[in-house]
Amino acid sequence: MKKLLLLLSVLVMVMGFSLAVHASPEEDRLVFRKFYEKRFPNVATEDFINGAYSIDKAGRENWEAIEEFPPYEPFMERGREMWEKPFANGKGYKECFPDGPGVAHKYPHWDKKQQMVMTLPLAINQCREANGEKALKYKKGSINDILSYMAFESRGQITNVVVPKNDSSALDAYEQGKKFYYTRRGQLNFSCAHCHLQNAGMNLRAEMLGPALGHTTHWPTYRSKWGTVGTLHRRFTGCNKQVRAKPFKAQGEEYRNLEYFLTYMSNGLPLNGPGARK
Ligand code: HEC
Repeated sequence: MKKLLLLLSVLVMVMGFSLAVHASPEEDRLVFRKFYEKRFPNVATEDFINGAYSIDKAGRENWEAIEEFPPYEPFMERGREMWEKPFANGKGYKECFPDGPGVAHKYPHWDKKQQMVMTLPLAINQCREANGEKALKYKKGSINDILSYMAFESRGQITNVVVPKNDSSALDAYEQGKKFYYTRRGQLNFSCAHCHLQNAGMNLRAEMLGPALGHTTHWPTYRSKWGTVGTLHRRFTGCNKQVRAKPFKAQGEEYRNLEYFLTYMSNGLPLNGPGARK
């Protein structure tokens, strides 16, 4: 009986912070956003793009000092060279991205033809492979150079993820991502929402748990702990490992759907990548 009561209260706790199962993406987004606006009434909504620094005053001062000499700049520079340099076949990124490098706000999107969520790193590698170049690794290495350059060129663009209404597979991908976010996993049995929704603002060891609103606006990100720039999926991997759960494959279906959901939650917020974090 005691066990059952405990189970029930845990269920209620989790459900209290979950999004309704049958809500539309737009209904979800409004609830998600309101949650943080209510929890942190003194933070301007746009400031959530600065992650934990939107709510952590001491951390913010440190970060502002770091941003004076942005550690991601050399990555952007190398990325610019990659963008300019033709592939062995004479073509280049410019042909794959005819609207130029500042297109990060167009990702992730539902790719109707391939029936999957298309992310920018995946599009970069599809471009390379279509032109006879080797695919880049998805977490570390030079994919972060080209992504840093494209992120910088995309600054100020507005997050605007679309879940097409007439395509049930797109909605299904979104729902999968949403479910991922609220599913407990690992030895600690924590969901993403446990840390970034209900415990946002609390300290976990030396770090303050940041709000998830704005989590997708600043990738790739230089992390002092990594000593380099890394991708969003590298961060997903790290957060899965923190709870001792087995991480999924970077750019595999699970993380792409997760990115689709999580980026949708930040619709309306401007892009400010590349980022810098502790
Ligand atoms: C045990 C707590 C915990 C869980 C569970 C967790 N995270 Fe995190 N996460 C952190 C901490 C701590 C940080 C670093 C401080 C911060 O920015 O919140 C972080 C950072 C992040 C960041 C980078 C934030 C930024 O501003 O750059 C993202 C994105 C993120 N987490 C996503 C996720 C996702 C998605 C999940 C579920 C797969 C998840 N996290 C699960 C603790 C957690």
